[in-house]
Order: sequence, then structure tokens, then C-alpha cells
Amino acid sequence: MSTIIRSSSYEIFIGNDTFIQLEKFLLKHYSGRKIFILVDENTNEKCLPFISERISMLKDAVVLQMESGEKNKSLSTCEELWKQLTDHHADRKSLLINLGGGVVGDVGGFVAATYMRGIDFINIPTTLLAMVDASAGGKNGINFSGLKNQVGTFTKPAAVFISPFFLKTLAEREIKSGFAEVIKHALIADAEKWEELRQLNSLADVNWIKIIDHSVYIKNKIVNADFRERNKRKSLNFGHTIGHALESYSVKHHADPLKHGEAVAIGMIGEIYLSMKHLDFPSNTAEEVISFIQKHFVNMVAEINPDEVLELIHSDKKKEQSEVNFVLLKNIADPFINQNPSDELVKQAIGFSLQPFKSSVDLHQ
Ligand code: GLY
Repeated sequence: MSTIIRSSSYEIFIGNDTFIQLEKFLLKHYSGRKIFILVDENTNEKCLPFISERISMLKDAVVLQMESGEKNKSLSTCEELWKQLTDHHADRKSLLINLGGGVVGDVGGFVAATYMRGIDFINIPTTLLAMVDASAGGKNGINFSGLKNQVGTFTKPAAVFISPFFLKTLAEREIKSGFAEVIKHALIADAEKWEELRQLNSLADVNWIKIIDHSVYIKNKIVNADFRERNKRKSLNFGHTIGHALESYSVKHHADPLKHGEAVAIGMIGEIYLSMKHLDFPSNTAEEVISFIQKHFVNMVAEINPDEVLELIHSDKKKEQSEVNFVLLKNIADPFINQNPSDELVKQAIGFSLQPFKSSVDLHQ
């Protein structure tokens, strides 16, 4: 049985039988319409056969392929896709199905939101990160002029279909990367869920449907309250101010760079430290959070230079023409947006963030 989470104007189906739901949905809303499926080389091989074999309406769908990777979240990829839609006579009633992780979802959502002033799109996320975060929430976009997500829209999908089946196609590191966002959702919004989550010793035997279901529920609730990210939605950026800077630093300096979720996991440690110093977040709870992250994210002992990471935080914000505003926690599920701790404290937090992976932590230093 699928769970259905209702967003303001669309539904998010989660479960093992979501493909049955997808078929029903397509029959009800898109019979006789042209259907396009956007894939990358990975989902073309590992995921597309699975759905086109099961859903007869998709047998004749036109498959559009883009190359995987953040660098292809570009205007030239969109141009190519708009051209292919045009060449295949896609019209206002056509549907684009985005089958992939965050990059496919972001590009496909943007291409659909802009082609002929907007055609319908459905997201079928295939990574844990996209399942619990990117696929639901209506953000889409591309990188432009060296800036991440510089051009894009807030456009809601017609529906989202999440199947844990696709997790089998992922490497363990990829799963962990998505798990960081699961942890984040509990920390910012659900103390009870955090208590439950922190009993988890290993991700090997996890009931993913339950975990994804709750995580999407939290994200959806926040997005529904503040779709255009004027205030409450900003809480979803917990761990991301330090995390994004670490991610950029790692791409520049490390042969095997941190994945997004790994950087966010380390960023959450830094931002829990800031929360303790700036908002009196309880130190015993901080220890619990840090040791949980430490347990699930191992081998992240890469060296960092806190001064350079601090510079990256400032330059990111300058590019975004905004202040360095952190989301910090007063307690579990009690986030405060627009927090401005001093640079000195932020530098300490950056230095602190990797310490748990090197030694035992002294929170009272
Ligand atoms: N990934 C954060 C958001 O959707 O707002």
C-alpha cells in the first residue's frame, strides 16, 4: 500500500506499489497525451526499464537523456531538451516525467516549467536525497554564470511517486548522503522522530518507506507553510551554511570530494556547536546529535582550512547578495532563522565540525 501525502495542489505517493498508482494517475490524467521521460545515463540503464516494463502507457514515451552531474545543470542542457521537445512536437498538454536524482529533477522541472510557458511534470526520484528533499517542494533550476541555482522557478509538480525500490540501485555512500537530510528534518521539526531515529544502529535493515514517509511529511508541512521561502522554509537550510562551503572547499581540494549529504552532516555538527554557543542549545543533546552523526558518517577525516571555509561562506552569501544568516536550534525541533553569530565563533564551529571524526569531542572547550 502506498501512503499519500497531500501537498497544497498535488499528491506525493510513497510505497512499494507506487508504480500501480502511477499507472492509474497516467490513465486518469494523461491518456492520449504525449509523454516524455527525462533520464540520465544511470537512470536510463537502471531505472527506466523497470517502469517502462510495468506501465504500458510508458512504452511509447519519448525518452530524453541528459548527462548526469552538477555541471550539466546548465542552460545548454535545457536548450538541448527544449529543442528535443520542439522536434517531437510536444504541446501544452504534454507531460514530462523526471526519472532521476536532484539534477534530473531540477533541470526537468525547469524545462517543463518554461517550455510553452509551462507543461505538466511528474517527479520520480531515484536517490534517497531526491526522495526526501528535492522531489517535493517545487524548486527547480539551473546553475548560471558560476552561481548555483541562479535561474529557476517555484513550480509544483503534477505529482511525485517515490519507490524505495530504486534505493537498491544506489551505492551505500549515496544512501548516507540522503540520510543526512532525514536527520536534518527530524532535528528541525520533530523531537519524537529524533528520539526514534537515534536508536538506529545501522542503515542496513531500515524500513525505508517509514523513514521516507515521515521525512517527506515534515518537508511538505514546512513547504506548505512557506512555499516561496520567505521565512519558515529557511529552516530547511540547517547545516547547509557550513555544509555548502565545505562542499565547495572539498570539490576544490580533495581527490574524492564530499557528497552533498556528507558535507551537510558535518555542517550540522558545526551548526549544533554554534547553536550551543549562540542559543544555549543543551550540551547533552548536542553530544547525542554529534555521536549519532559520527556513528553513521565515518571516514570523513579530510583536512580543512577553517579560514578558507569561512571565506567561502562569505563569498557564497555575497554572490547571493544576502547576509550570512544561519539557521540555529534552541533545542530539537525549535529552529531560529536569520541568526548572525560572530565570524570568530563561526570559525571555531568550522574547526570543530570535523573534530568528531578525529577524536573524542570536548564540547566544553
Ligand atoms: N532543499 C530545501 C528546500 O527545498 O527548501
